[in-house]
Amino acid sequence: MEIRLRLNGQDIALDVAPDETLQHALRWTAGIESARSTCGIGVCGACAVLVDGRVMSSCLILAPLADGRAIETVEALPEDDPVIAAFVAETAFQCSYCTPGFVIAVKALLADDPDPNEATIRERLSGNLCRCGSYDAIVAATQRAARAARRT
Ligand code: FES
Ligand code: FES
Repeated sequence: MEIRLRLNGQDIALDVAPDETLQHALRWTAGIESARSTCGIGVCGACAVLVDGRVMSSCLILAPLADGRAIETVEALPEDDPVIAAFVAETAFQCSYCTPGFVIAVKALLADDPDPNEATIRERLSGNLCRCGSYDAIVAATQRAARAARRT
C-alpha cells in the first residue's frame, strides 16, 4: 500500500506493507540510515524520529499509521546544528550507534525546555540507551547545546 509523508521537508510517497514498521520503511525504503533498529520493542531509542514534532520510537509505529504525518530525522539537520556541534565538542559518543536517536531526543527536549537542569535531561533522555556508557558526556552536550541556543 502507498502512504504519503512529509519527510525532512519533502513530500514523498512510500510503498509499505501493512505490518511494516515506520523504522523499517524509513531505513530500507526511504534510505534514512539514522532510523536504526536495535531492540525493536521501544526500549532503546535508536530508532527515534520526530513525528509531527514529537519524539517517537519509529519501531513502535506501523508505517501505514504514519500516513499524512511529518517526519524529521537527523538527516534534515544542518551541519552547524547546535546539538550536533555540542555532541562533537563533548565527544558524546564512542561507537555512535545511539547518537542519531539521542540527537533527536535532545532536539525535542530543548524545544520544550530551553534551559533544562541535569535531572530533567536525564529523565527526558531515559528512553535512549547508550551501550558505550557515554551518558555523562551526553548530558554535558545537552547543556552545551542549550547554552548555545540561548545565545542565538
Ligand atoms: S529499536 Fe526502536 S526503541 Fe529500540
Ligand atoms: S556511543 Fe555506542 S551505543 Fe552510544
